[in-house]
Parts: sequence; C-alpha cells; structure tokens
Amino acid sequence: MSSIAGFIGRVYKSLNPPSPPRVEQPLRFGILGAAAIAPNALIRPALSHPEVLVYAVAARDIQKAQTYATKHHIPKVHSNYEELLADKDIDVIYNPLPNGLHYEWTMKALEAGKHVLLEKPAANTAEEVRAMFDLAEKKGLVLLEAFHYRFHPAIQRLKAIVDSGELGKIKHVEATMSLPKGHFSADDIRYNYSLGGGCLMDMGCYPMNCVRYLTSSNPASILDVSHELFQPPNSPSDYASNVDKKTVASFAMPNDVTAKITCNFEDPPRLGFIPRLPVLNVAIECEGGKTDLYNFIGPSWFHTITVTPRSGRARKEKAYVFSGSDGVGGGQRGEVWWETYRYQLEAFVDRVKGREVRTWVDKEDSVANMDWIEKVYAVSGLGSRPKSTYVSTTQT
Ligand SMILES: *[C@@H]1O[C@H](CO)[C@@H](O)[C@H](O)[C@H]1NC(C)=O
Repeated sequence: MSSIAGFIGRVYKSLNPPSPPRVEQPLRFGILGAAAIAPNALIRPALSHPEVLVYAVAARDIQKAQTYATKHHIPKVHSNYEELLADKDIDVIYNPLPNGLHYEWTMKALEAGKHVLLEKPAANTAEEVRAMFDLAEKKGLVLLEAFHYRFHPAIQRLKAIVDSGELGKIKHVEATMSLPKGHFSADDIRYNYSLGGGCLMDMGCYPMNCVRYLTSSNPASILDVSHELFQPPNSPSDYASNVDKKTVASFAMPNDVTAKITCNFEDPPRLGFIPRLPVLNVAIECEGGKTDLYNFIGPSWFHTITVTPRSGRARKEKAYVFSGSDGVGGGQRGEVWWETYRYQLEAFVDRVKGREVRTWVDKEDSVANMDWIEKVYAVSGLGSRPKSTYVSTTQT
C-alpha cells in the first residue's frame, strides 16, 4: 500500500509543486512558440525553481500567444520570434519548435547572445548539430539538447548497476518506445517530412540515446533496419512520404555488444481490438544475469528497476532521488516528486551559473545521436530529413 501512497504523493506534488519566492535576478526564459510540450517540459518544473522565471512567449498568432500566456501566467507576449530573441530581459530561449526549425532558431538565439534549452532531436542533421554547438562554444553560451530522462536518478541507477559489474560483462541492450495506434492524428507534424518528421526522429531519438548511454559507446555498425512507412489517409499505396511510423534497428556495439532500438507511433491493437499499453522499456542482458528499467523515459511518477542475477535472488529497486550511496549522483539535489524535466532544469541552471554539474548531455553526445539516426535512415532508404536553408551570419 505504501507504494500506492508514494505514487499518489509524487503525482500530486509534481503537478502542484511548491513555488518558493524567486531570487532577486532569476534567469528569464522565453519560449519560441505556444508549444504543447512547454507546460510539462519547462513551465511546471520552473515553478519550483527559485532561480527561474518563465518570462515571455512568442507566437506568430498573437491571439494564441496571449491566451497561452494568460493560461500559464507568463508576463510578456511577443508577436514574432525575432522580437523574442531581441528582448534584452531574456537570458534563455527554450526551443520546442518542429525539428526542421531547430537549427535556424537555435542559431538565431545564440547569435542574439541567449543560452538555449533545445528540444530533441537537436536538428535534422548531425552537421547542423555540430554547427550549433560550435557557435555556442564560440559565444560562451550554454546549449543543451533536452534529453531529460538522463537527468533522473532511475536511468543513472540502471547504468550504475551495469557498470558495477555485478552482472558481469554486458552483452545486449534493447530500448523501446512505442505508443498505441491512435495517439497521433494523420496531420500531426510528426508525420511531416519537411518539418523533420518521422518516428525515428521523434521517439526513436530516445532509444538511440539510451543504448549509447548505457553502453558508454557509439555503434560500430548497423546490423539490420526495418521500418513501416506512414501513408496519409486516402493516399495511393505507393505514396512516398519518406516518413516512418515505425523503425527497428540493430547495431553492433564495440566489445562484442549488440543493441536494438524500436520506436513505434502506431502499435496496433492486439488481436485487432485490445488496445496496447505504451512500451517505454530498456533491458540489458549481461553474462551473469539481466536487468531492466520499466518506464525509462518518464520514471518520475512510477518506474521499476528489476535485477535478475543468473544465480541468486532477483530484486526490484526504485530511484526517485540520488541516494549518494548506490553508486549514482552523490550530492546531487532532488526530491522524490521531481520529474525528469525538473532534474534537467536544475542542471541547466547550474551550468548557466557556472556551478558544478554532475549530469550533462554534451556536444559530442548530441552530434553522435543525430549521426546514427541519419545512418539508420540511410539504410532504410528514407534518407536524412532536409537540411535547413538558413545561413548563419556568424558561421565560420
Ligand atoms: C508540412 O509542413 C509544411 C510547413 O508547415 C506545409 O507547408 C506542408 O504542407 C506540410 N506537408 C504535409 C504533407 O502535411
């Protein structure tokens, strides 16, 4: 019963976080677009961070921006993105625009001297990802691709179990993100190739990142790729959308390790009528047993780490805070009700403030993730999503 009470407590408190008074000069965030993800990814987590103020939002439709600002208590509204970037009171830009616009608006934000919290995947191509980080470095600005799950203790505990060697050498890692059919409508931007759509881009970037993180390596080669193509309703059967609704890829990793990623926008009902549950799981087989984390992407409300040694007793673990004693994150702040995004925001602010940060997703990590997404698309024949036409004025 206590675990049910714990669950209710975590959910309640994460949705109704305490909001301490702000420090005298909080970091002021501006949001590009009245995005549906921002309340979860930034606005709510910011409430409990005394050094953060969600200060402004910009949308081309001013009415939409105004409604959004009122609903989320955002003091300032801009009627276009340029004006937001030119706002001298803003320190940080949050970029949750469609993937195909990530490069242009992140470059422009950096050019305007703003730090950037950038939604994943970072851009449509690895080359663009590298250019963004190069510019951030040149300007001394913080840029983070928002792989929020990496900042949560649960995935870090899973990695610590594997790295501790208690299960022996790692053999195979498998990460899955799959949602039941019906979750997205056919006109969703996730199905729009020119905006950087595709399941491997949108959801697949998580399992891609996760298998690289847990093995502390990049793939050595691709072993196999299969995909299912998105077909818009009423389109001819040979319609080439270039957009995958599902992709499965297997990799050879260094040191005789293998990995498999699965992402699926449209998991069909079992037997044609029993709806599926979302699958958000990562499992690792080692020579001496196996371990897995159920709900690796959103572990904050509920997750389970199962450790099953080949000999000896299986056990279950939870990691809602950094305990400091189990091989992860000693000294990192946190509360049991903090969501992945709240942990991420803590690190982001620390980084901007020049304080020590124990968890980070760095430039080479983001570049490599995009690089392997492109490589999988090359094998599936769908190709990389189109490069931005934006030409940066400060690019070398
Ligand atoms: C994709 O988005 C672009 C830009 O909003 C739009 O012009 C285009 O019609 C969309 N394509 C499809 C197939 O929906």
